[in-house]
Amino acid sequence: MRVTLNQAAELLTKSQVVALPTETVYGLAASISHEKAIEQVFALKRRPLANPLIIHVSSHGQVHALADTLATGFDRLSEAFWPGSMTLVLPVAVDKIPYSIRAGLPTAAFRMPAHQLTLDVLSLTGPVVMPSANLSGKPSATTPTHVEMDFGLNFPVLDGGPCEKGVESTILIFRNQTWSIIRLGAIPVEDFADVLGYTPEVNIKPAGLNPICPGQLFRHYAPKAKLILTKEIPPEATGIVLGFADKSYPDKCDLWSMSHSSNPQAASASLYALLRKLDENNITEAWVDINFPEEGLWTTLAERLHKASH
Ligand code: TXA
Ligand code: MG
Repeated sequence: MRVTLNQAAELLTKSQVVALPTETVYGLAASISHEKAIEQVFALKRRPLANPLIIHVSSHGQVHALADTLATGFDRLSEAFWPGSMTLVLPVAVDKIPYSIRAGLPTAAFRMPAHQLTLDVLSLTGPVVMPSANLSGKPSATTPTHVEMDFGLNFPVLDGGPCEKGVESTILIFRNQTWSIIRLGAIPVEDFADVLGYTPEVNIKPAGLNPICPGQLFRHYAPKAKLILTKEIPPEATGIVLGFADKSYPDKCDLWSMSHSSNPQAASASLYALLRKLDENNITEAWVDINFPEEGLWTTLAERLHKASH
């Protein structure tokens, strides 16, 4: 059910869960001051309680009110990339933020999304938590229709059009006096170097029982189809290829184009819709052309495809 901006704000203040658009993916929003609604977010998504949520804000002041100490570089990063696809994990005063949002950690993740409709909602309601608006383990939703496929036609969605970025935000944490990346995302690693004065280390491998980013423990972004990632599709191959419009593939293959091969932004924006389309068409196996550069946004795309292929 499509709702207006004012209806979305009203539902949130009445302890309801609403799907809101962001520039990365759609989010399942609940006000941070309504613990029942937060519980419902976990239940609706069938999300493990050990996986904490990102707090979304519409002003820097809302972060200052909730965070404990603001790490060196916080101001520079937030000035440079907010509103935008960067999430920062910060130490918080634990009494200010419900346990369930943090999954018991002494930190919380913050982001100011770059979507005017949602910023307008948040300026009426205050901060909300927003995990991606998909059932846990499914590809994230990048259109209102995707949200409705997972949560039903009666679920309230604020329609902000298709998401411009199409992959989730890049998450950074400050530890040992430096910022490092704990989830690759819509802002490439290289883009942080100018602002930080160094290229942040990427630390995305689950490390034992206490990963830095708990989300890494869980299955992600996966369609039912088996994805075969390869730099070269064998000439005798048949079936669907997720590939590029300007490249040629074996005769018996059917190309589902992600984008032109020079456009990682467009490939990211189409990725989850294509993964969902595989399921909609009951496809059990597909080839994926991963013959692209190991840099910039391509790195994020490769990581999402690897996760989707497991
Ligand atoms: O682009 C995005 O970030 C989207 C849109 C809706 O804003 N949201 C999103 O949320 O991707 P979600 O819940 O699907 O992913 C949040 C990730 C999880 O991997 C979680 O483990 C991590 O953020 N996270 C949250 N709080 C954390 C914390 N305190 N420390 C480390 N990781 C944290
Ligand atoms: Mg998610």
